[in-house]
Amino acid sequence: MSTAIITGASSGLGLAYAKQLVKKNDVVVLCARNEERLAKAKEELLLLAPDAQIETISVDLSTFEGIDALANRVASTPDLEWMINNAGFGLGGQIYPDNDIKRSTDMLVTHCAAVERLSYEAAKVMKANGRGYILNTSSVGAFFFGKGSVDYCSTKAYVVSFTRGLACDLKGTGVRAVVLCPGFVRTGFHSTPEMLIDKDLYGKIPNWLWMDADWVVKKAIRCAEHGSTVMLVPSIVYKCAVFFLRRLWL
Ligand SMILES: NC(=O)c1ccc[n+]([C@@H]2O[C@H](COP(=O)([O-])OP(=O)(O)OC[C@H]3O[C@@H](n4cnc5c(N)ncnc54)[C@H](OP(=O)(O)O)[C@@H]3O)[C@@H](O)[C@H]2O)c1
Repeated sequence: MSTAIITGASSGLGLAYAKQLVKKNDVVVLCARNEERLAKAKEELLLLAPDAQIETISVDLSTFEGIDALANRVASTPDLEWMINNAGFGLGGQIYPDNDIKRSTDMLVTHCAAVERLSYEAAKVMKANGRGYILNTSSVGAFFFGKGSVDYCSTKAYVVSFTRGLACDLKGTGVRAVVLCPGFVRTGFHSTPEMLIDKDLYGKIPNWLWMDADWVVKKAIRCAEHGSTVMLVPSIVYKCAVFFLRRLWL
């Protein structure tokens, strides 16, 4: 038996992970807040894999109660094979110090504290098994900074740094930690009410900069299973962008 636990699994990249991992695992645990969307995701997965055991957990990872609840589930999954820390969101038009600081803190907790705690619990279980994959979702935003993106870029930079360090700690244990840094992916990310503030901006992004969620996730899973790198930036365009950005200011 093997289990995959996926946060942010009701939509976009998380749902794409679930669709691919349901073919490799007996149990898939879908986590997000909205129960209706989780139930819809479960239905979709059962069409793909009618014999799979699909569990849904409604949890808010911007709260420490939510993180604790899911951490307990992770810690009590002895056959955990995949921990996908993917839940996240964007905030449009937030300029310090006129930003909504509560939402900034929500982002810090969701993108950083949840990833840290769930990676910790997963690493414990997986190290004991001598196998497993921890795949954390960052962004090419991790290599940028600028007006209106303080929280997003800094929290995603944490995910890169944390996962790279984690991979060092886990070397030789059989457990792989990988961080995915995508550019623009067609998901629900850009159409949440908080991001729609910037809808004109997203309309101006050329088609060739957008990627497909299934394609990105396929690359991430392949990198975790067969790759030797810890950090994956999918597509040559974004690889080049990150290469030059890191030389410019990191
Ligand atoms: N799309 C892009 O262009 C892009 C680029 C780079 C990185 N990313 C990253 O990719 C990850 C997935 O985003 P996506 O593009 O797939 O967006 P999405 O379609 O909006 O999916 C986000 C998922 O996260 C869940 N979520 C959000 N806040 C949560 C919370 N507080 N607690 C638990 N679950 C929460 C959402 O479900 P509920 O709302 O029901 O909770 C949903 O399942 C994010 O970490 C994002 O930062 C996206």
